[in-house]
Amino acid sequence: MKHFTAIENHTKQELEKLLELAKSFKAKPFGSQLKQKTLISIFMNPSTRTKTSFDLAMHQLGGHNISIEPGKSSWGLEIEEGAIMDKDAEEHLKDATKVLCKYGDALALRCFPKFKDWNEEKKDKILKNMVKWSDKPVINMETISHPCQALAMMQTIIEKLGDPKGKKFVLTWAYHPKPLNTAVANSAAMIASMFGMDITIANPEGYDLDPDYIKQSKNNCKKNNANFKQTHTQDLKDADFVYAKSWGSLEQYGNYNKTIQDKHKNWIVNKENMPKQAYFSHCLPVRRNMIVTDQVIDSKNSLVYEEAENRLHVQKAILKTLIGEKE
Ligand code: CP
Repeated sequence: MKHFTAIENHTKQELEKLLELAKSFKAKPFGSQLKQKTLISIFMNPSTRTKTSFDLAMHQLGGHNISIEPGKSSWGLEIEEGAIMDKDAEEHLKDATKVLCKYGDALALRCFPKFKDWNEEKKDKILKNMVKWSDKPVINMETISHPCQALAMMQTIIEKLGDPKGKKFVLTWAYHPKPLNTAVANSAAMIASMFGMDITIANPEGYDLDPDYIKQSKNNCKKNNANFKQTHTQDLKDADFVYAKSWGSLEQYGNYNKTIQDKHKNWIVNKENMPKQAYFSHCLPVRRNMIVTDQVIDSKNSLVYEEAENRLHVQKAILKTLIGEKE
């Protein structure tokens, strides 16, 4: 494994190996597997969990994390290759990447899409350019996908449901006043389908995920003899695991229409539509009583804090695999 940039870039066996390692780090959190190693994490967007869990992952294994926020704590970055840099950005991503590689053992990037042109932004060019210009491993901390979150979600599913094969995973859209990134949903559908779960993706009309992610998830389900369903009603029936997430309509990409989104305020996970036995989770941060009611998120079947904790363990597994001492 050279980088960790998307779930779909890995085999199921590679992901299983990471999850095994994450389990062992959960049992034994401290060590020296990353002694004298430095991660440099670049945050172009805010974070609570990702930043603290990467800091802790490095610290608890004997290494160190340095976070920078271009345009705030460090120079603003130009990301277009070949740009004439006559605007605000003081430094090119290419130069920043090459310099940071001289200091750190791995780089990590958070860079959300700009909601201007999905066909362009879905190419994930910034992350891919960083990989191209970096001679050190690169980790995706959320761009158009969120593979660390998906891995933490899968660790949580396995802890509660055992073998995920044949279990019913419902990914439901939920209302949020803003158009959010599709990254969490993309990676969640990808990993759940790779691990043989029966998948239902529920979202309002006009809010379907990108066809490439749908196609890959469908193909994964087919290979695993699992069911794949898309529905435009919030049908959580028979779910073993309900994963809620809001995302912006790709049909309205670059042209967000709040009036249309506001028509879907009834898309909320609540006591009435949540199956009794099912587990609930969300990547967090979450808008309470918009995405999910207090009653559901505070119930014994809610796994939101377990999943957030598992970010720490899976990231240790990723870091150890990419830059840790070889045994
Ligand atoms: N789930 C997640 O990535 O949380 P943060 O945005 O707080 O890092």
